[in-house]
Amino acid sequence: MDTVVSGIRSTGQLHLGNYFGALRNFIKMQHDARCFFFIADYHSLTTHPDPRILHDNVRNVLAEYLAAGLDPSVATIYVQSDVPQVAELSMLLSMHAPVGELERTASFKDKIRKHADNVNAGLLTYPVLMAADILQHKADKVPVGKDQEQHLEMTRVYARRFNSFYGVEYFSEPAAYNFGTELVKVPGLDGSGKMGKSEGNGLYLSDSDADIRKKVMRAVSDSGPTAPGEPMSEPVANLFTLLKLVSAPSTVEHFAASYNACEIRYGDLKKQLAEDIVAVVAPIRERIEAVKADEAFLRRVTADGAEKARESSAKTLAQVREIMGIRRF
Ligand code: TRP
Repeated sequence: MDTVVSGIRSTGQLHLGNYFGALRNFIKMQHDARCFFFIADYHSLTTHPDPRILHDNVRNVLAEYLAAGLDPSVATIYVQSDVPQVAELSMLLSMHAPVGELERTASFKDKIRKHADNVNAGLLTYPVLMAADILQHKADKVPVGKDQEQHLEMTRVYARRFNSFYGVEYFSEPAAYNFGTELVKVPGLDGSGKMGKSEGNGLYLSDSDADIRKKVMRAVSDSGPTAPGEPMSEPVANLFTLLKLVSAPSTVEHFAASYNACEIRYGDLKKQLAEDIVAVVAPIRERIEAVKADEAFLRRVTADGAEKARESSAKTLAQVREIMGIRRF
């Protein structure tokens, strides 16, 4: 069975794009592989979050993933900082991470450009810590988006370099977990592009029914089809994409037919779309609230997850120390 490791950013609420994108695949994947999911709170420190809100961010993200369907009885779910072994492994791996290579990382260059006032060493060694996250569990596969591909490539470089420097076949090279064609691009409500946090066009798993209805009714559309067979504008095509994700096939067919007959009323489509989104989101939102309020459950999940992750990490760390020549008297 493959081992899969995935780090989850500890900021921001989950939107429908996250849910129908990676998250639904995680929920499926957890039954097919030995999965480690963790909240990457150490990584988040590179951008100096307010210490008063860091823990709440971790808690919110954790609650949302659990509420959406990550299952602690099948996957190992933990908080990165509960496994401090990863910091030691990262430090050891950094001995084989040339600074020039780190400085050329796209994400680092991007951060320098955007936050010239905060170019800290943690940012520089971000990919080393990420490699330690992955290598500590001897992951075979890592589900990553485009923006993380270079980091995963660096992880492979560190694994290879470690093996060749010490003359061992210790680390294997983790591959990108490919969801294949299943990964859907979920559009936003502003007419173009995909749903995203910074775009302000999102529907969140924590949104109330009223929020959802309001946002959907305000979604960008167009002035309506004028001739049958006319190609659909992007805003309207986006509404249909959302409809296909949440509504029954017969509903999609109904609105497609009325569009083709130039009889569509976008208000009707939006009303239906809003109700079908509410039907998906409301039960998740209620679980999010219940999970957030259940301190004992969160404590138990993170304690169990940390214990399993530490066991896996400590084993790797002991072997790495041995290979590097660190021995006890
Ligand atoms: N850097 C990843 C992101 O921003 C999060 C992450 C940290 C991660 N460690 C990881 C992802 C290990 C996969 C594996 O999304």
